[in-house]
Amino acid sequence: MASLSGKEKAEPLTDSHSLEGLPKALLAWFDLHARDLPWRAGAEGARDPYRVWLAEIMLQQTTVPHATPYFLDFTRRWPDISALAAARDEDVMSAWAGLGYYARARNLLKCARVVSARCGFPQTAAELAALPGIGPYTSGAIAALAFGERAAAVDGNVERVFARVLALKGDWDASKQIIRREVEALVPDGRSGAFAEALMDLGATLCTPKRPACGECPISEFCLARRESTPELYPMKPPKAERPERRGIAYVLFDRGEVLLVRRPPKGLLGGMLALPSTGWIESGDVIDAPPLKADWVDMGEVQHVFTHFSLRLAVRRAALKAKQRPEGEWVALEDVRGLPSVFAKAFRKAMADEKKT
Ligand code: ADE
Repeated sequence: MASLSGKEKAEPLTDSHSLEGLPKALLAWFDLHARDLPWRAGAEGARDPYRVWLAEIMLQQTTVPHATPYFLDFTRRWPDISALAAARDEDVMSAWAGLGYYARARNLLKCARVVSARCGFPQTAAELAALPGIGPYTSGAIAALAFGERAAAVDGNVERVFARVLALKGDWDASKQIIRREVEALVPDGRSGAFAEALMDLGATLCTPKRPACGECPISEFCLARRESTPELYPMKPPKAERPERRGIAYVLFDRGEVLLVRRPPKGLLGGMLALPSTGWIESGDVIDAPPLKADWVDMGEVQHVFTHFSLRLAVRRAALKAKQRPEGEWVALEDVRGLPSVFAKAFRKAMADEKKT
């Protein structure tokens, strides 16, 4: 097919037939430019389902560079599903610390135990989608990458690519349905795993949210947004609601080279994670000081952290224990503090940073 310059007039591509040559062009590019990633060991379409699943769960809401060391650490400590299923909850939660969205880690463990008990992953997208923490995207990805099923894996990156290819301007929920249908129709027999990985790579390396590299794109000739010369206008999503700001106080209590940590309740935000004692986090009104005990608390400034639905300004206070009685919790040697979610890791570093204020 002749390639089109940006100036040519847009002709609407109305059915998947017009995109017929897209998978072939994409796969030819992928065969030359596939990223070498640690979860891509094994034959195309027959990857290790444990590694595919683990990577997909980690990569939800997390970038490849951030997730990679976690993936390597997990697979070194727990090389297969039965090893992970037998792990202690606290060890897995602690190894997950810093990846965020901790419900994912709780579901990861649940899923590992179910899969291990049934002696392996089911091999179809429909059965995979019934497992804890596995939605339509992840079930499609595992089915295609590990079992060669002709399944689609449509995530936000794929939606961006196809919102551009199809120049979708209408309601975003309706557009997402159109995209799913189109992608499902395009999945090639025999190379569904490579097709899914190729779309991931295209979205990550060329068809990026800002300044897409259309000049290098293997499917630009199929792309209506490229013909319109306006790829960055897509996807046309409704604006996100503004994030409210919450405030709170975290307390860093030292005693003889150790610090007081607490385990958060199993459900809810940062559920099951190790934490610093803290007040509740509120949006309006005054934060009520609620230290774990009376002491000479010193103000150490504040840290900020962005969660999905709110941002947090967390004041940090530190004190040395004078009383004989230690408050309840987990006392951990300062050099052994690990496994804290990022917000508490920041607060802990803040409390440790400025020795002058002790
Ligand atoms: N993003 C989501 N899943 C991915 C994968 N398997 N490889 C690279 N990037 C991804």
